[in-house]
Amino acid sequence: MEIRSVEEEQQSPAVTANVGLPNAALHQVNDGVVEIEIEQDDSGTCGYGPLPIFLKFEDVEYKINGSSRNPVKAAITSVASRLRMEQGNCKHILKGITGNVGPGQILALMGPSGSGKTTLLKLLGGRLDGDIRGKVTYNDTPYGPSLKRRIGFVAQDDVLFPHLTVEETLVFAAFLRLPTEMSRKEKHLRAERIIKELSLERCRHTRVGGVLVKGISGGERKRTSIGYEILVDPSLLFLDEPTSGLDSTSASKLLVILRNLAKAGRTVITTIHQPSSRIFYMFDKLLLISEGQTIYHGNARESMHYFSSLGFVPEIAMNPSEFLLDIATGHVKDISIPETLQGSTDLQEIEVKVIKFLQCKYKTDLEPREKEENYHSVKAPMKLQLSIQIKKDRTSNWVEQFIILSKRTFRERSRDYLDKLRFSQTVGVAVLLGLLWWKSNIGTEAQLRDQVVNKTQTVRLLLLA
Ligand SMILES: Nc1ncnc2c1ncn2[C@@H]1O[C@H](COP(=O)(O)OP(=O)(O)OP(=O)(O)O)[C@@H](O)[C@H]1O
Ligand SMILES: [Mg+2]
Repeated sequence: MEIRSVEEEQQSPAVTANVGLPNAALHQVNDGVVEIEIEQDDSGTCGYGPLPIFLKFEDVEYKINGSSRNPVKAAITSVASRLRMEQGNCKHILKGITGNVGPGQILALMGPSGSGKTTLLKLLGGRLDGDIRGKVTYNDTPYGPSLKRRIGFVAQDDVLFPHLTVEETLVFAAFLRLPTEMSRKEKHLRAERIIKELSLERCRHTRVGGVLVKGISGGERKRTSIGYEILVDPSLLFLDEPTSGLDSTSASKLLVILRNLAKAGRTVITTIHQPSSRIFYMFDKLLLISEGQTIYHGNARESMHYFSSLGFVPEIAMNPSEFLLDIATGHVKDISIPETLQGSTDLQEIEVKVIKFLQCKYKTDLEPREKEENYHSVKAPMKLQLSIQIKKDRTSNWVEQFIILSKRTFRERSRDYLDKLRFSQTVGVAVLLGLLWWKSNIGTEAQLRDQVVNKTQTVRLLLLA
């Protein structure tokens, strides 16, 4: 896909797609070329809508040094590893990953557990530091602080307040995170729009809940977490396994929501574990990782064709993601493999051979094309490169934030303390202890000591009973 600025080249567009952006539109012209037109934003909410962001990454590597940040621990670990004659306790997690994704697209990161999906997601989302190598650019500019507010990150374990309702969660978030230029009414309307967009109307007054508190369902919880992030209209949305724990219908509903978010001009990147076929075909791009290395990157629909061209064909009917995960782990039961890999009966040996073969094939067949596409044909227009460096609108100052946070904490805590069950438990225990001490003989110090011993034993017995 090539990107040209409308200002740079005046061609009449063959197809124009309204991407739903307040200030941008994509024009499809000949040969798959996409032009981006950005109109001047006079709405007063300058820089607020999602800005088209083209994310490119090349030869991304990530290593974890086993040594601790604590200098004492680090010294001990280093001495211990030297004593054990270890070459170093460095863990190479990502080993040179290349790819790209643009606005309107969903990139799925797939691979077996421990292959490095979450690590790559965090790295691309600017949430990782340490030994990072390679190049990651956003509209051909490196990561900068101005990007923070254009990125939404939905982690696998969401951190929502269990005693707040869905509506309260979103309204408090709107007051905290939306620009000061927006009025209270506008912030309320924004939260309302998100509730409608994510079909959360039915549970808007239900508590979010948690381990001990009953609350909304898993799917509603995921949607609330997504709502929390898209409140500020991020241009780049990262999601770590948004469908895990959901049934296939709820998962595909969630994917439809992500599709709509992408259609509105956002760039969506998500890790996913074995999606159903229906979900798999909703992805535009796929990055399949095996042991920290790519074995496929490109159009999700073409992935099966690519592997069959290499000689990997399912022998029985299989869900595409099941097949892809099988070959990413080198597990080729019910899958025919190329002749060069046949001949061994040792399953472990076959697994190692398959993974190595696929990694090499990607390096020789697909990666050169990816790199060519990344840095020779794709160039983000200057306007986009500059826009990404402009900070989004200012949010509330620390005094306002303090007030909003205090209100939120008060609402949350008061619900917890005034919980009917908890309240009756507290009253019950207080009455019981009161009765225990009622009319006790505590005239002298010795009598008081005796009573304390007696009462403690009684309480222990009660607890055991
Ligand atoms: N801080 C860390 N310290 C040590 N090892 C780490 C750290 N973070 C990640 N790893 C290791 O890096 C590898 C990749 O981890 P990552 O979480 O990216 O895997 P994943 O593909 O997301 O797996 P899953 O599908 O189970 O979520 C794992 O082997 C993990 O143990
Ligand atoms: Mg993960």
